Amino acid sequence: MTVGETEAMDGVAARLERDAAAAIRAAETTEALADAVTAVLGKRSALARAHRDLAGLDPNARREAGRMLHDARQRLEELVAARREELAASERRAMLEGDRLDLTEVTTVASPIARGHLHLVDQTQRALEDVFVAMGFTVAEGPESETDWYNFEALNIPPAHPARSMWDTFYLDLGQPETVVLRTHTSPVQVHLMEEQAPPIHAVMPGRCYRHETPDARHLATFHQLEGLVVDKGITFADLAGTLETFTNAYFGADIHTRLRPAYFPFTEPSAEVEITCTICLGAGCRTCSNTGWVELAGCGMVDPAVFEAVGIDPTEWTGFAFGFGIDRCAQMRHGIADLRVLDENELRFLRQF
Ligand code: DAH
Repeated sequence: MTVGETEAMDGVAARLERDAAAAIRAAETTEALADAVTAVLGKRSALARAHRDLAGLDPNARREAGRMLHDARQRLEELVAARREELAASERRAMLEGDRLDLTEVTTVASPIARGHLHLVDQTQRALEDVFVAMGFTVAEGPESETDWYNFEALNIPPAHPARSMWDTFYLDLGQPETVVLRTHTSPVQVHLMEEQAPPIHAVMPGRCYRHETPDARHLATFHQLEGLVVDKGITFADLAGTLETFTNAYFGADIHTRLRPAYFPFTEPSAEVEITCTICLGAGCRTCSNTGWVELAGCGMVDPAVFEAVGIDPTEWTGFAFGFGIDRCAQMRHGIADLRVLDENELRFLRQF
């Protein structure tokens, strides 16, 4: 081998090494690295070929060139080992990163978790209770299924009395036919209370009621009432009127007009209905108020002595008044809801407004 040939071999080895090193460094995965190793160090690589070509050189040159190629291969193998380590480490990191459970996820959600709230009717019930509690009333509750005695008879509505037609009754298939009902009003809770507790009584009794009727803008088959009962000494109609006015002023505001109209209920004498100017049409007349300009909110009156007698309270010693507000109607008038049936539809876009 001449000096020239040795120099040439020097250049060839350096180029082979440079190209091979570039291919090794360019491998981005351990798989790609394995392919690169086959390509630059394998049997068919340029380096292997250069080794084979050594056979054609004279012994001196062969030794010299062989050493150069051998050294180059050694450096390349070191480079491969280092690159392999690097790639394995970064692949392990990526895998761990991918497997990690992100326990912070729940608390970093951009929008707050939507919470529900009480239905408008429940909110209204609580608001009405609050007004009466502030006036010194207690709150009591009674069952939704009642015997005929509590729902009717004790309230001075004997069997077959025509007044029964005022309440379209659902009867339960229990005991003798037509002896157990879904309460048609909260008035039977008055009876429970007077049986359990001696006067004086100042109580309100909220709850769900049922009537077999076709729903319309002002009526639901399942609805809610807030019953009121005061039994004390020397109670007059003026106490009733004053209590009602205090309530309507507190709940609807002093600008809203209410009126009492004579009415008939078997359990009160005299009896009246509490009406409010229709808040949908402000009294002009509309579909909600059946063009009367007024909406009935409650029945009321002085407790009939026959009711006191049914529960063993002496009507010569005690007098009292009672009332029954429609809770749904109060919500309707307070919030200007033209058709009460939306309260039953569970339409979230409606309910979310309150
Ligand atoms: N219970 C009656 C009804 O649902 C309303 C009522 C009227 C309740 C007069 C009373 C009352 O307490 O005194 O139609």
